[in-house]
Amino acid sequence: MYLHAKTKIPGMLQYINENPQRYISDQAWDKMLESMNEFNLRLHDGKAQGSEFLGWVDLPANALKSVDEDYKKAMDLFADKEAVVCVGIGGSYLGTRAVLSALQTPFSNAQPEMLYAGHQLDEAYHDDLLKYLRNKDFGIIVISKSGTTTEPAVAFRLLKNLLKEQGKGDELKKHIIAITDAKKGALRSLADELDLVSYVVPDDVGGRFSVLTPVGLVPLAVAGVDLQALLEGARDMSELVSYRQLPGRNPAVQYAAFRKLMWDSKKSVEILANTLPSLSYVAEWWKQLFGESEGKEHKGLLPANINMTSDLHSLGQFIQEGNPMFFETFLKVKSSDRNLKIPREVANLDNLNYLAGKSMDYINQKAAEGTQKAHADGAVPVSEIIIDKTDEYHLGQLLYFFEKACGMSAYSLGVNPFDQPGVEAYKSNMFTLLGKK
Ligand code: PA5
Repeated sequence: MYLHAKTKIPGMLQYINENPQRYISDQAWDKMLESMNEFNLRLHDGKAQGSEFLGWVDLPANALKSVDEDYKKAMDLFADKEAVVCVGIGGSYLGTRAVLSALQTPFSNAQPEMLYAGHQLDEAYHDDLLKYLRNKDFGIIVISKSGTTTEPAVAFRLLKNLLKEQGKGDELKKHIIAITDAKKGALRSLADELDLVSYVVPDDVGGRFSVLTPVGLVPLAVAGVDLQALLEGARDMSELVSYRQLPGRNPAVQYAAFRKLMWDSKKSVEILANTLPSLSYVAEWWKQLFGESEGKEHKGLLPANINMTSDLHSLGQFIQEGNPMFFETFLKVKSSDRNLKIPREVANLDNLNYLAGKSMDYINQKAAEGTQKAHADGAVPVSEIIIDKTDEYHLGQLLYFFEKACGMSAYSLGVNPFDQPGVEAYKSNMFTLLGKK
């Protein structure tokens, strides 16, 4: 009989599932933990589908060896830029946005300002972006593993054209960094032709598992993120969730096991309830990770998310009393690094003095606790993922935790976690409609 829940290592992410027995027997839970750890082993020994894409498994420890030197060139090149545009889509963009959105608020006034392009095809968005950048000294980080994806290629051409209009056509290499395949693709040819500073996406790491490669680390370094701490968090998590760990003490095995048991009991949706809106892009990254890895052969849990507390005033009703097709995972942060307390007012016209002296984070934590209890009482299977803080170290833990759990979870469904054949269908239709030869 395994401990069901807490891995009480100070500073480490916890997966807490107070009562899986309410939905599954102890015996079924223990059996699932054992078999999930077999899938964990497959991610290390490479004896399963997609084994050519397991480069991410040992990536944190490897990347740490030379992180200080590896990204200096990019940081130096863009040190004085007012703005940097990160051009990419899917796995080539979401990891960067997840980490930066968690670390900065819209009012942080970070320098350089990080902007995004080529993650969709909205004409007004890109037109306004070009106008916004017209008189700014900006840099472009263009990221595409294949080097041929339409959305970033279109945005890149527009931004490159703006650099030329700014009179920088002869010195493009001072304003562009490319991240792509070592040898193939249009972006590789262009980077070589223009003699750009470029970084390589490793062959053995797929897009949605690439946040800790140059795909995420270059833009994050340029944005001033502490890469050392991010990678240390990921490395510490990689040790905690290794197949050598006892399954009952391995939070990624537990999370993947619960997901599989929920799938077996005919749940079709997992809702990730992020208790801070700053984690909403972590949820977007998580959706891609699990959605593209598992959604094959008519299998897979649909990854959905709610932002708290906003969505309690929209989807809260459905979660409490609607079609019970889902289970819920709360994504929580133990403590805030701010101290925004509610002031006392003598008149107390709004009757809020009962909260005077309490921090906003305290109120948010209580809202999450209350919601969690209400949903559990409403027969929604609920578990929690808790990190200590939203800093680089703990975000590194979280990213790796999800990657490891995702690999096992997809294997347990019998699908290859590392391909995405379904993504091609829209592309070929679009190319036909656009008349691409
Ligand atoms: O996970 C994946 O492989 C995809 O989401 C890709 O990251 C996305 O399609 C972008 O591809 P590329 O980097 O080749 O432009």
